[in-house]
Amino acid sequence: MKNNSIGNITRARLLSGAASLLAIVCLSVVASVEARLNNAAPQQTAPVVPSEKPVEQVRKNIQVLNGLPSSQLIPVMNYMSASLGVKCDYCHAEKDGHLDVVSDLKPEKGAAREMIKMVQGINKANFKGNPAVSCFTCHRGRPEPVRAPALPLAAAAPLPEAAAATAKETPPTADQILARYTEALGGAAAIERLKSRSMKGTWLTANGMTLGYEVYQTAPDRIYTVLNTPKQGVIERGFNGQTAWEKGTRGLRDLEGPELYSLRRYPDLFKDIKLQGQFTRLGFGGRDTLDGKDVYVLRGMGNDGKGERLYFDVQTGLLLRRVSSTSTMVGIIPEQVDYEDYRDVEGLKVPFTIRVTTIDAGGSSTRKFTEIKLNVPVDATKFNKPPAPPPAAAQTPKP
Ligand code: HEC
Ligand code: HEC
Repeated sequence: MKNNSIGNITRARLLSGAASLLAIVCLSVVASVEARLNNAAPQQTAPVVPSEKPVEQVRKNIQVLNGLPSSQLIPVMNYMSASLGVKCDYCHAEKDGHLDVVSDLKPEKGAAREMIKMVQGINKANFKGNPAVSCFTCHRGRPEPVRAPALPLAAAAPLPEAAAATAKETPPTADQILARYTEALGGAAAIERLKSRSMKGTWLTANGMTLGYEVYQTAPDRIYTVLNTPKQGVIERGFNGQTAWEKGTRGLRDLEGPELYSLRRYPDLFKDIKLQGQFTRLGFGGRDTLDGKDVYVLRGMGNDGKGERLYFDVQTGLLLRRVSSTSTMVGIIPEQVDYEDYRDVEGLKVPFTIRVTTIDAGGSSTRKFTEIKLNVPVDATKFNKPPAPPPAAAQTPKP
């Protein structure tokens, strides 16, 4: 695939057609999380995912990934690419400068099919069907797995778990760690008072571009963002609880799939603030270090069915990292969010840097804020999709 000028935004556009169903899933997952957040008592129900078509029903040439939810196709493709350290065109032929994903011209695609079957067979026969062995287990970022150890052998690194430290202290429970996090943020009362937030700063894309970035949000989930790109001008995006939209050089259109996810997830008003009630299971996962800081790790399962790992600073109690993993038939796909530079804003601690790291390098980004305001009035009409411009003026090119 060609490198795009504004990284993941355009990338997501390319893929949005491939994952239109994801929109429905995202919306319903977010909606169900909200439902839970608004309820005092956390519900222990199974994730509510509407019936989603398997990929073979929406794609032309699926022979081995039968039964894969269609929203997972592109994540799985990104996962296989990352596991082998290759781009899409390693397996997919190109036609007229575009990927011809349906074609079986390249032998690597056939090899990958055999590998997918092999991985499924290994996991079925040995690991109760859980994705214990994946492409990455063997490939480690290369097309050809290493066959023999290189000499001299490096000494095995000690396991991260600081067993000695854990042995001395009684490990805290998940509830205690979450309660301490609430306090560290400023306390439940200050969190309950949070009704709106506005943030200004920059969005650094995976390919090194710095875009101007503004976010306006109100509880529970309304959002309006402005991206200032050097080449494509201003891109506005919004969600008013029903419709997600974008207005930019490509005109006015609805957002779905990964674009909608990316618009809403990272600056989500409460997702990383009110953690209680978001998990079906959550337990103490040991003590570790992260960038030289001691951290407590919580491990669990989110209500959306994703595996979760949360890393809390032992000293401050603040959340430093959250890793959500989607389990698929070829492997476990992680997505990591790091929270840095916490500062006090109106009695709440707010991270001024949010770093998102995904399996496909193009999806990673760093959001750095220079100004964050809480509970200032936000004009609710900002969230609504603007009226379509008259046809003549719609595509006026920027000078
Ligand atoms: C390691 C090889 C490999 C890589 C790398 C790879 N793919 Fe695939 N892709 C496959 C295989 C194999 C299939 C067919 C799966 C099946 O038969 O069930 C496939 C199928 C697809 C399909 C469905 C096509 C159809 O209509 O039947 C799409 C779309 C797709 N890939 C996109 C991508 C994109 C985008 C990338 C890069 C992010 C990518 N692939 C990277 C091996 C690969
Ligand atoms: C158990 C280890 C193992 C796992 C798991 C595994 N592979 Fe492989 N794979 C290999 C080995 C070994 C080779 C090299 C075979 C050879 O040299 O003939 C290979 C070769 C390949 C090739 C052909 C490379 C080439 O140069 O032609 C592709 C494509 C591939 N694997 C994709 C995958 C994908 C996609 C997955 C996950 C669905 C996967 N592999 C999982 C061990 C593995």
